[in-house]
Parts: sequence; C-alpha cells; structure tokens
Amino acid sequence: MNANLDGLVLGIETSCDETAAAVLDLEGRVRSGIVSSQHATHGPYGGVVPELAARRHIETIEPIVRRALDEATAGWTDLRLIACTSGPGLAGALLVGLSYGKALAYALRIPWVTVNHLEGHVASAWIDRPAVEPSALVLVVSGGHTHLYRTTGDSGYRLLGRTLDDAAGEAFDKGAKLLGLGFPGGPAVDKLAQSGNPTAIQFPRSLGKRTSLDFSFSGLKTALLYYLRDHPDWEQPNRSADIAASYQEAIVDVLVTKALRAVAQSGERVLAVVGGVSANSRLRARLMEAGAIDGIEIVIPPLSLCTDNAVMIARAGLDAYRRGRIACWDMESVANASFPGLDHPLGQTEPDRSRRLPSTHA
Ligand code: KG4
Ligand code: ZN
Repeated sequence: MNANLDGLVLGIETSCDETAAAVLDLEGRVRSGIVSSQHATHGPYGGVVPELAARRHIETIEPIVRRALDEATAGWTDLRLIACTSGPGLAGALLVGLSYGKALAYALRIPWVTVNHLEGHVASAWIDRPAVEPSALVLVVSGGHTHLYRTTGDSGYRLLGRTLDDAAGEAFDKGAKLLGLGFPGGPAVDKLAQSGNPTAIQFPRSLGKRTSLDFSFSGLKTALLYYLRDHPDWEQPNRSADIAASYQEAIVDVLVTKALRAVAQSGERVLAVVGGVSANSRLRARLMEAGAIDGIEIVIPPLSLCTDNAVMIARAGLDAYRRGRIACWDMESVANASFPGLDHPLGQTEPDRSRRLPSTHA
C-alpha cells in the first residue's frame, strides 16, 4: 500500500457483459483500469444472456477490483470515493457491481456515488482534460443507445436526437449475425470491411427530414436481410467483405451526416463521439476527415475507453461528487434509467460535508 497517496477513487462498471474496475487519483489521473470481458461466455448464444452475465460478474468482481488496486499500487484504505454504474443496463448485472461498491463504501466509511452509464460514456471524452467541456455536441453510440446531446453547462445535457428503433451498435451486431460473423458483431464487421469496397452496394441511408437529428437503422438491417436472400453467392470471401464494407458505410454515413447536421444547426465547434461504436475504424477516420475540412474539433476517446470500462465511471463519479452529488445507502440500480434529468438524480441526498473530498478542482 502506498502511504503517500492523497486518496483515490474506485470506479466499478457491470452494466452488461464487462466486469470493470478502475482507480483514479483525485485530480482525475488514471492509475489503473481493468476490464474483464465475457465475450467467450455469451459468444455461443449470439448475444448477452442476462442471467449468465450476472453470475460471471459475481465471480469476477472481487479479483478485478483487487487487480485494479494492485496496478494502482494502492490498498483499500487509500480509497476516498467509490463510483458505480447504476443504470441503464441489465438488472442482475447492475446489481452485482452496485451492491459490491455500496458495501465496500459502507465498510470503508467513505462516500459513494452512482453514475448513469451514458454519463460515464460522455465522461470518457474528457478523460485527458481537467473538466467536462462546457459547450459541445456529444454523440453516444453504443449497443443500446444512439443519442445526440448538447452539453449546456457544467452538468447539463440537452437531448437533440436519438434512435427511433435500433441503436448503431445493434445495427452492427444484427448485421454481423446475418453475415455469420459471431458476437460481438461490431469489431467483426469492422475487421472484415477493411478488405471490402464500401461503394460496392448502395444500402439505404435513413436521413429523415432535412433538419431531423433522429436516427433509424432498422430499415438498413432489413435491406441487408433481403440482399443476402437475393444473392445466394454472398458467402464468397470477396463478396462478404464488400457487403460488410457497404453495410458499415451506410451506418457511418448516417452517423457522420447527422452529427455534422447538429454542428451546423447548433454552431458548436466541438464534437465528441463516444461509446462502443466510436471504436469503429471507418467512423473514426470519416469523423477526423470531416473535422479537418470543416474546422471542427473532433474528440474520440482512445480505443480502450470506447467500449465499456470503469475509468469513465470513476471520472464521471468524481466530477459529479465535486458538484455535490452523493448517493444514500438505500440507492438502487435502475435498469431503464434515462440520462437527461441528471441535474436532479433520483434518491440522492444533500452531501455530508464532513465526508467530502478536499477540493482540488478550480
Ligand atoms: O459501449 P458498449 O461497449 O456497450 C454498451 O453500452 O452497449 O458498446 C458495445 C457496442 C456493441 O454493439 C459492439 O458491436 C459495438 O459497440 N462495437 C463496435 C466496434 N467495437 C464495438 N461497432 C463497430 N465497430 C467496432 N470496432
Ligand atoms: Zn456502454
């Protein structure tokens, strides 16, 4: 244990199929971040099995937290704050991380905060900055969400657009399933697409009305289904790479078009793109290209922070705590938690001043 530490924050994330723990110092610097993925458990089923996810989290949470502490050369008593994902996510999976973190905070007599999973993804954009960007557009593209926000101040977010059906990650996963690429589908499509021609097939792009910032991907998935049905030779290696590249291009086109539309409508000059799909190589390249042409600052987290991780939860929790948020002991997970409205999180009390962290933020 390092006796010279001022204190550390432990973040815990178990909302879906990653068990993750991370340790940050009180300035938000990352000391460790461990992610244990359950892909091998769920792969044979072609998707996440909630009951299995919860069971795996129970087995893994303790060793993962210990590893995060070890890599941070820290011990239990160095912790000053614990941040846990409270939702949205799988009910049983959320319960494991939340109960573990709450019990640990109680035993250590330190405060704990609950973090909305999307709030965590947003925080991943600003990990290398002292504070959340006060004014920016943030596109959250994950397995469950495609939400476009405008930050309206230190802790406020306004929802500008969202998916009307499938999330972008879901479109990748369902497309991958149709192409027989296994689970999770996004990385597999990304990989196969690299050797394909993105203009080979013109899949439909649902762009809605000229001003619309909402998304829709279910038509694209259906178009792929019909394309495969009508082209029985699609399994030839070159053909499937072209299909993957063209399918990916349709998703990326829609995401980039809508994000740039929001930039034009809002006048914002900073665009952050976060969540699992922000790991997509084509999306990253297209965004950087567009940013350079239009003079927009594009912020995309490093790959390790795009998909689910606990660094983002620890950081979001630390920022929230500094703003006075603290969870009470009867706080529970909320599987269908919504993100807007975080200014007044449910079930949270006035902070207990005697337990507040020393303020290191200006
Ligand atoms: O943020 P995340 O790890 O979990 C959720 O909050 O849902 O996102 C997972 C999603 C999955 O749909 C996965 O297929 C997708 O992100 N994903 C990708 C890539 N890596 C992960 N999609 C496209 N390309 C990738 N490289
Ligand atoms: Zn996520």
